[in-house]
Amino acid sequence: MQALIVYASLTGNTRRVARALAEELSCPAVDVRKRGDLELASVELLLVGDGVYGGRPSRAMARFLQALPRLEGLRAAVFGTYGAKPSQLPRLVELLRARGAQVVGEFACPGRDWFALGLLRRGRPNARDLARARAFARRLSSAF
Ligand SMILES: Cc1cc2nc3c(=O)[nH]c(=O)nc-3n(C[C@H](O)[C@H](O)[C@H](O)COP(=O)(O)O)c2cc1C
Repeated sequence: MQALIVYASLTGNTRRVARALAEELSCPAVDVRKRGDLELASVELLLVGDGVYGGRPSRAMARFLQALPRLEGLRAAVFGTYGAKPSQLPRLVELLRARGAQVVGEFACPGRDWFALGLLRRGRPNARDLARARAFARRLSSAF
Protein backbone atom coordinates (compact mmCIF):
# COMPACT_ATOMS: atom_id res chain seq x y z
CA MET A 1 0.00 0.00 0.00
CA GLN A 2 1.48 3.34 -1.07
CA ALA A 3 0.73 6.04 1.49
CA LEU A 4 1.59 9.72 1.60
CA ILE A 5 1.49 11.97 4.65
CA VAL A 6 1.09 15.71 4.32
CA TYR A 7 1.16 17.68 7.55
CA ALA A 8 1.29 21.21 8.91
CA SER A 9 2.91 21.86 12.26
CA LEU A 10 3.49 25.31 13.71
CA THR A 11 5.25 24.17 16.90
CA GLY A 12 6.42 20.65 16.02
CA ASN A 13 3.87 18.41 17.79
CA THR A 14 2.02 17.21 14.71
CA ARG A 15 5.36 16.70 12.95
CA ARG A 16 6.31 14.15 15.63
CA VAL A 17 3.08 12.23 15.07
CA ALA A 18 3.57 12.47 11.29
CA ARG A 19 7.05 10.97 11.61
CA ALA A 20 5.82 8.07 13.74
CA LEU A 21 3.08 7.33 11.20
CA ALA A 22 5.58 7.59 8.33
CA GLU A 23 7.91 5.11 9.99
CA GLU A 24 5.10 2.66 10.55
CA LEU A 25 3.80 3.00 6.97
CA SER A 26 7.26 3.28 5.33
CA CYS A 27 6.09 6.36 3.45
CA PRO A 28 7.12 9.99 3.10
CA ALA A 29 5.88 12.70 5.48
CA VAL A 30 5.86 16.04 3.72
CA ASP A 31 5.54 19.45 5.37
CA VAL A 32 2.73 21.21 3.51
CA ARG A 33 4.81 24.40 3.34
CA LYS A 34 7.69 22.60 1.60
CA ARG A 35 5.65 20.30 -0.58
CA GLY A 36 6.70 21.46 -4.04
CA ASP A 37 4.95 19.39 -6.68
CA LEU A 38 3.37 16.38 -5.04
CA GLU A 39 2.87 13.26 -7.13
CA LEU A 40 -0.51 11.89 -6.07
CA ALA A 41 -1.14 9.52 -8.98
CA SER A 42 0.35 6.44 -7.28
CA VAL A 43 -0.93 7.26 -3.79
CA GLU A 44 -3.48 4.81 -2.34
CA LEU A 45 -3.88 6.39 1.09
CA LEU A 46 -3.45 10.10 1.82
CA LEU A 47 -2.95 11.10 5.46
CA VAL A 48 -3.48 14.72 6.37
CA GLY A 49 -2.32 16.09 9.73
CA ASP A 50 -2.50 19.45 11.46
CA GLY A 51 -2.59 21.19 14.82
CA VAL A 52 -5.60 23.29 15.77
CA TYR A 53 -5.27 27.05 15.92
CA GLY A 54 -8.22 29.14 17.10
CA GLY A 55 -10.49 26.13 16.60
CA ARG A 56 -9.42 25.61 13.00
CA PRO A 57 -6.77 23.90 10.91
CA SER A 58 -3.84 25.99 9.69
CA ARG A 59 -4.44 28.26 6.73
CA ALA A 60 -1.62 26.51 4.84
CA MET A 61 -3.38 23.14 5.12
CA ALA A 62 -6.83 24.50 4.28
CA ARG A 63 -5.40 26.17 1.16
CA PHE A 64 -3.54 23.02 0.14
CA LEU A 65 -6.67 20.86 0.46
CA GLN A 66 -8.86 23.34 -1.38
CA ALA A 67 -6.38 23.43 -4.29
CA LEU A 68 -6.16 19.65 -4.72
CA PRO A 69 -7.44 18.09 -7.91
CA ARG A 70 -10.47 15.78 -7.63
CA LEU A 71 -9.51 12.74 -5.54
CA GLU A 72 -12.50 10.59 -6.50
CA GLY A 73 -12.51 7.47 -4.32
CA LEU A 74 -9.01 7.99 -2.89
CA ARG A 75 -8.84 6.72 0.67
CA ALA A 76 -7.75 9.35 3.16
CA ALA A 77 -7.28 9.72 6.90
CA VAL A 78 -6.86 12.72 9.16
CA PHE A 79 -4.78 13.17 12.29
CA GLY A 80 -3.84 15.99 14.57
CA THR A 81 -2.70 17.30 17.91
CA TYR A 82 -4.58 19.74 20.13
CA GLY A 83 -4.43 21.71 23.35
CA ALA A 84 -8.08 21.40 24.38
CA LYS A 85 -10.06 19.70 21.62
CA PRO A 86 -9.25 18.36 18.13
CA SER A 87 -11.72 20.68 16.43
CA GLN A 88 -9.58 20.87 13.28
CA LEU A 89 -10.43 17.27 12.35
CA PRO A 90 -14.05 17.76 11.22
CA ARG A 91 -12.92 20.62 8.98
CA LEU A 92 -10.09 18.52 7.50
CA VAL A 93 -12.59 15.73 6.81
CA GLU A 94 -14.98 18.19 5.19
CA LEU A 95 -12.24 19.60 2.92
CA LEU A 96 -11.11 16.11 1.85
CA ARG A 97 -14.67 14.99 1.15
CA ALA A 98 -15.21 18.12 -0.89
CA ARG A 99 -12.39 16.90 -3.15
CA GLY A 100 -14.04 13.49 -3.48
CA ALA A 101 -11.82 11.54 -1.08
CA GLN A 102 -13.22 8.78 1.11
CA VAL A 103 -12.16 9.43 4.72
CA VAL A 104 -11.53 6.12 6.48
CA GLY A 105 -9.87 7.09 9.76
CA GLU A 106 -9.17 9.79 12.34
CA PHE A 107 -6.55 10.05 15.05
CA ALA A 108 -5.81 12.78 17.57
CA CYS A 109 -3.69 13.20 20.67
CA PRO A 110 -2.73 16.17 22.86
CA GLY A 111 0.24 18.35 21.93
CA ARG A 112 2.18 20.76 24.15
CA ASP A 113 0.32 24.03 23.90
CA TRP A 114 2.56 27.03 23.24
CA PHE A 115 -0.50 29.26 23.00
CA ALA A 116 -0.71 28.64 26.75
CA LEU A 117 3.06 29.39 27.05
CA GLY A 118 3.81 25.66 26.92
CA LEU A 119 2.21 25.14 30.32
CA LEU A 120 -0.57 22.87 29.10
CA ARG A 121 -0.06 19.35 27.73
CA ARG A 122 3.60 19.39 28.65
CA GLY A 123 5.52 16.42 27.23
CA ARG A 124 2.78 15.55 24.74
CA PRO A 125 2.74 13.82 22.40
CA ASN A 126 4.49 11.30 24.66
CA ALA A 127 5.67 7.76 23.95
CA ARG A 128 2.20 6.40 24.61
CA ASP A 129 0.58 8.87 22.20
CA LEU A 130 3.10 7.90 19.52
CA ALA A 131 2.46 4.20 20.15
CA ARG A 132 -1.27 4.86 19.69
CA ALA A 133 -0.47 6.69 16.45
CA ARG A 134 1.51 3.68 15.22
CA ALA A 135 -1.37 1.36 16.09
CA PHE A 136 -3.69 3.65 14.11
CA ALA A 137 -1.31 3.36 11.12
CA ARG A 138 -1.33 -0.43 11.37
CA ARG A 139 -5.14 -0.49 11.43
CA LEU A 140 -5.23 1.68 8.31
CA SER A 141 -2.75 -0.48 6.40
CA SER A 142 -4.45 -3.72 7.43
CA ALA A 143 -7.58 -2.56 5.59
CA PHE A 144 -5.70 -2.82 2.25
C1 LIG B 1 -1.62 30.10 17.98
C2 LIG B 1 -2.17 28.84 18.62
C3 LIG B 1 -3.54 28.66 18.72
C4 LIG B 1 -4.07 27.49 19.30
N1 LIG B 1 -5.43 27.32 19.35
C5 LIG B 1 -5.94 26.17 19.87
C6 LIG B 1 -7.35 25.93 19.87
O1 LIG B 1 -8.16 26.72 19.42
N2 LIG B 1 -7.81 24.77 20.42
C7 LIG B 1 -6.95 23.82 20.93
O2 LIG B 1 -7.41 22.79 21.38
N3 LIG B 1 -5.59 24.02 20.91
C8 LIG B 1 -5.08 25.16 20.39
N4 LIG B 1 -3.73 25.34 20.35
C9 LIG B 1 -2.85 24.26 20.80
C10 LIG B 1 -2.29 23.50 19.61
O3 LIG B 1 -3.31 23.03 18.75
C11 LIG B 1 -1.48 22.29 20.07
O4 LIG B 1 -0.40 22.71 20.88
C12 LIG B 1 -0.98 21.49 18.90
O5 LIG B 1 -0.28 20.37 19.36
C13 LIG B 1 -0.08 22.32 17.99
O6 LIG B 1 0.37 21.51 16.94
P1 LIG B 1 1.76 21.80 16.22
O7 LIG B 1 2.84 21.74 17.26
O8 LIG B 1 1.86 20.71 15.23
O9 LIG B 1 1.65 23.16 15.62
C14 LIG B 1 -3.18 26.51 19.80
C15 LIG B 1 -1.79 26.71 19.72
C16 LIG B 1 -1.28 27.85 19.14
C17 LIG B 1 0.21 28.02 19.06
